[in-house]
Amino acid sequence: MNSKQTKTALITGANRGIRYAIAQGLLEADFQVIIGSRSLKKGEIAAAKLNSPLVSVVEIDIAEDDSINKAFNELNGKIDRLDVLVNNAGIYPDNGFNILTIDRDLLIKTLNVNTFGAIKTTQIFLPLLEKADKARVINYSSGYGQLAGLSASVPSYCLSKLTLNGATIMLADALASKNITVNAVDPGWVSSDMGGENAPRTIEEGADTAVWLATIDSVKDSGKLWRDRSIASF
Ligand SMILES: NC(=O)c1ccc[n+]([C@@H]2O[C@H](COP(=O)([O-])OP(=O)(O)OC[C@H]3O[C@@H](n4cnc5c(N)ncnc54)[C@H](OP(=O)(O)O)[C@@H]3O)[C@@H](O)[C@H]2O)c1
Repeated sequence: MNSKQTKTALITGANRGIRYAIAQGLLEADFQVIIGSRSLKKGEIAAAKLNSPLVSVVEIDIAEDDSINKAFNELNGKIDRLDVLVNNAGIYPDNGFNILTIDRDLLIKTLNVNTFGAIKTTQIFLPLLEKADKARVINYSSGYGQLAGLSASVPSYCLSKLTLNGATIMLADALASKNITVNAVDPGWVSSDMGGENAPRTIEEGADTAVWLATIDSVKDSGKLWRDRSIASF
């Protein structure tokens, strides 16, 4: 059960990568942090590293509605509301493909996780988000999803983040009357399993804007793409 004072955040795909710094940033702001991981064991290892009584783990595979529903039902009994949902989980499986060679199955797989996963998680967790005062949904997007970032390469990932940006605008519109803001974040090129070791940004830099959006007193803008705490063009 979350107390009246302690805000609660769920971070999907949170057993490695940028999520670790998001979780740390939210813990520093006294949030109760729920790590969503498709492997419970990996999630528990990640939670142990965070070493805080305010961290817990839920099993969630955002590619599967049954799994998202199961995670919701498990948390619905434990928390009164969800103040922040960070749709962070994502895949980057395009190595060796361009827009002329990618097959349908890979396009479907990537959009299913990166776009539809964020939409479905938001839909399914809405009853808990609605119970919070001015809940926030933060979608992890990418510069690859910006119109100016599109090229022939990285095809399924680019399309998945382009459509995630579209979903951000649409969800923001749908949830405005409920005082729930929905924003997308481009973390830049971050040194993680996905970004690789040559990436110039740390996971803390990749987490900064999301933590800021989650913790500032009020978020005036919704349906925007953010980078380095500023609005960027879609
Ligand atoms: N790193 C960058 O340079 C960069 C740049 C722009 C945007 N981003 C975005 O930032 C977010 C985090 O990236 P990252 O660099 O931290 O990536 P990462 O290190 O590859 O971590 C991705 C996370 O997503 C999880 N995941 C994948 N598919 C999932 C599913 N179906 N259900 C639940 N979890 C799933 C992974 O869990 P498993 O261990 O189970 O696979 C992992 O915890 C992603 O959305 C990414 O697209 C990253």
